[in-house]
Order: sequence, then structure tokens, then C-alpha cells
Amino acid sequence: TRTQVAIVGGGPAGLMLSHLLHLAGIDSVVVDNRTVEEIETTHRAGILERDSVRLLVDSGVSDRVLTDGHEHEGISLRFGGVSHRIDFQKLAGASCWLYPQTEVFIDLHRARTRDGGDVRYGITDTEVTDVLDTPTVRFADADGARHEITADLVVGADGSRSICRKLVADPHMYYREYPFAWFGVMVQAPPSAPELIYNRSPQGFALISQRTDTVQRMYFQCDPGENPDDWSDDRIWEQLHTRLSGADGFRLKDGPVLERTVLPFRSFVQSPMRHGRLLLAGDAAHTVPPTGAKGLNLALSDVRVLAEVLERAITKGDSDALDTYTDRALARVWKAQHFSYWMTTMLHNSSDASDFDEQRQLGELATLVASEAGSTYLAEGYTGWPHH
Ligand code: DHB
Repeated sequence: TRTQVAIVGGGPAGLMLSHLLHLAGIDSVVVDNRTVEEIETTHRAGILERDSVRLLVDSGVSDRVLTDGHEHEGISLRFGGVSHRIDFQKLAGASCWLYPQTEVFIDLHRARTRDGGDVRYGITDTEVTDVLDTPTVRFADADGARHEITADLVVGADGSRSICRKLVADPHMYYREYPFAWFGVMVQAPPSAPELIYNRSPQGFALISQRTDTVQRMYFQCDPGENPDDWSDDRIWEQLHTRLSGADGFRLKDGPVLERTVLPFRSFVQSPMRHGRLLLAGDAAHTVPPTGAKGLNLALSDVRVLAEVLERAITKGDSDALDTYTDRALARVWKAQHFSYWMTTMLHNSSDASDFDEQRQLGELATLVASEAGSTYLAEGYTGWPHH
């Protein structure tokens, strides 16, 4: 097969790119070693920035985010057992939307199918070669038949375990680890609050998010070596109840734990995001810790820049456009890296923290919620900086 753009990775980044290229009259083939079912059932974050919502709606992917998603005009920052509302609309004139990544994937997959996109899931033995002249992607389909795709350009949108990333010669890798992880649960219970709660407590961070009227998503800071199977429902609820408790008498609504996982936690950037005719997008090039839900939003913002760059290179023959990609994408990546790092370090306790560190952290939170400037920074970052 011959195509203009071969896209490795059929998650939200790869599919959105394929969709935007289709709108620009450029063909692509998307390949992914996972099955549609696997992607649809792997829980990811649930918050979309304002411009991520606009991109889904304005590019004709789906209006479902507006009908089935929930607009949130703020969050609650809770520490010392007291909740403080951060009003995004008042401070930044913007909202975010609670709409799980699995739903974003379903919408994008439907849109590509509707528009006749060539998207192949469940492939194996993927190999990418010749990225300096004629990018070639080889793979086997579910029946074991071998296939070869040659393309003008290849995009690695193949996530945090990217194979494409390794083809960039002599990259700079920026890396940071954290001495904690998140324990994520899906629970059967009604919502405990109308908005998300980001909670700091002496026992560690907890995040109360939502999914539906009857299913909620919650996370709490844990040791990275924790085994989810060691945690009974009672042990999980004890942690969550203790961390959220306060003089105001707030109490989470609990219920059976439907699913439990320990989530990886790190900051990572690989630069450059281009090597010859290979370009990287999303988690293939960078990872953020989950606090603030920037991962998917950042992937979509890479793809927004990449679609424009590829259109200039392919349709207008302007191959210099490719040279601008890394700097343009990384400008936003580093803002989001800082934001995610900042939200993380402001709300988690490090095992080696001193009593000074703990009081300083409370001082930071107290300053933030009392300051319109401080709260506005949070509101702008959370709802997403404007795209130019
Ligand atoms: C969710 C995840 C996040 O990391 C976050 O900051 C907010 C919400 C979620 O899964 O709902």
C-alpha cells in the first residue's frame, strides 16, 4: 500500500490526526497493535480543556461531548479539611469538560469509519524503517498475513511505549521520577460533589472525579510498588474517607469498588520530535504525571500543530514547515510539563518531606486560594492556554 501519511498508533492522537488530514484532502493509513475493544475498555483521564472540546466539535468529529459530557466551571481545592472553589469561568472565562478519553476514542473511531478512513487494529510485529527517505511500515494482520505501507511521511503516535521514538537519532531525553504513584479506582456510587475535588491531606493526595450518576472515578496517592490485589474495598475506602475528612463534616458516598489499578507517574520529554520524515505526537514524545489531566489534551494540541505542518509540507510543497514542528509543539509541552509538575508537587506528600516542607506546601495552597492572581494561573492552566 502507498499512502501520504502512515500513522503508527490509533489512539486519540493518531485518529484525530488522520481525521484532520482527511479534512485537508490528505490520505493516511493508521495502524495499531491493540484491538478496538482493548482501547475502549482501558480507563484513562476524564477532563478535556476548552480547546480540545472545540476541536472535536468544530472539526466534525462529534457533538456528543456537548450532549453527554459535563461542563465544569471550576474545581474544588481541599486542604486542611476545608474546600476552596476555584471558579474557572470567573477567573479565566473558560470551562473544562468531564468526558472520558474512552468516549473521545469512540467518537474518533466512528468518525474515521464514517468517512472511510483506513484504520487497522490488532496488528502485530510492527516495524518502521527508512524514515530518512521512504518511510515504510511493515506489520502482520490478525490472520498472520504480512503487509507493507510506504508513505511520504510517518507519524509516531504510538504512546508511552513508542517504537517510533527510538528512531530519532541522538535525542535529548528529559526525565523526572516521583516517589509515589496513583491508586485509581472505579466505584459504584452516586457523585459526592458537583465538581472535582483535588485534596491534600497529611496521609497524601486524593482526587475525587466522576463518570456517571452511578459510577465514580477516584484516585489516591500510593507507593509505586503497591499491588492493587492487596487492597480490599474496606482498605481503599478507609484511605479515601480519612484523606477527605474535615471539620465541615464532608463525607464521600461509597460503594463497591469495580476496578483498581496502580498508575505510573513520571515526567518525560524527548526532543526533537522529528527525525527526517518521521514526526512524533502525544505520549510517544512526552509524558506528564496525571495530576491536572494534561496528557490527552497535550496530544491533541500536538496533532493540531502537526496537521497544519503536514498540510503545508504535502499540499504546498513547503518542506521547511516540518522544521518548525518541534519548537511549536514543545512550547506548549513545557507549559503543560510545568503545570502538571506544579499541581503534583503542591498536592502530594513526598516520603522524605520535612515538617518545613509540609508547612511550606500549606503556605503555598493558602496563598493560591486567597490570591486572584494565583487562582487565575490555576484556572488558565487547567482549562488550557489559548492556541495561536
Ligand atoms: C481525571 C484524571 C485526572 O488525572 C485529573 O487530573 C482529573 C480527572 C479523571 O480520570 O476523571
